[in-house]
Amino acid sequence: MEFANKHAIVTGAANGIGCSIAKAFLREGAIVTVIDVNKTSGEKLQNVNFFHGKKKKKSVLEKFVCSLAKPVDYLINNACVGRRGLLIPVTA
Ligand SMILES: NC(=O)c1ccc[n+]([C@@H]2O[C@H](COP(=O)([O-])OP(=O)(O)OC[C@H]3O[C@@H](n4cnc5c(N)ncnc54)[C@H](O)[C@@H]3O)[C@@H](O)[C@H]2O)c1
Repeated sequence: MEFANKHAIVTGAANGIGCSIAKAFLREGAIVTVIDVNKTSGEKLQNVNFFHGKKKKKSVLEKFVCSLAKPVDYLINNACVGRRGLLIPVTA
């Protein structure tokens, strides 16, 4: 267990890549805290400390940081709204 008892924060981990990163940390024994705007998906995550909120909002971040029960070892700042569909479709 490479990350046993290490504390990892993963932003935007209720879905997608962040969710996979959070699960990988859990598999390696880390304590995982997630912040995400998607409450429905976030509350379904198991074995993580879930905090609902938007990471860009100062007031939210202050509450989030104050809620942390353990010093942070890793921060994966993954959350963002992806821009999909901007590439030009190419057909053979
Ligand atoms: N999927 C790709 O092909 C790809 C490619 C290049 C870069 N990325 C980047 O990787 C990251 C994850 O991509 P993904 O495809 O897993 O995205 P996703 O949309 O599947 O998941 C993003 C998560 O972040 C959350 N989120 C968005 N903005 C937030 C905010 N301000 N505060 C808190 N939570 C927020 C969403 O609710 C969601 O749960 C993004 O930063 C994206 O730009 C993705």
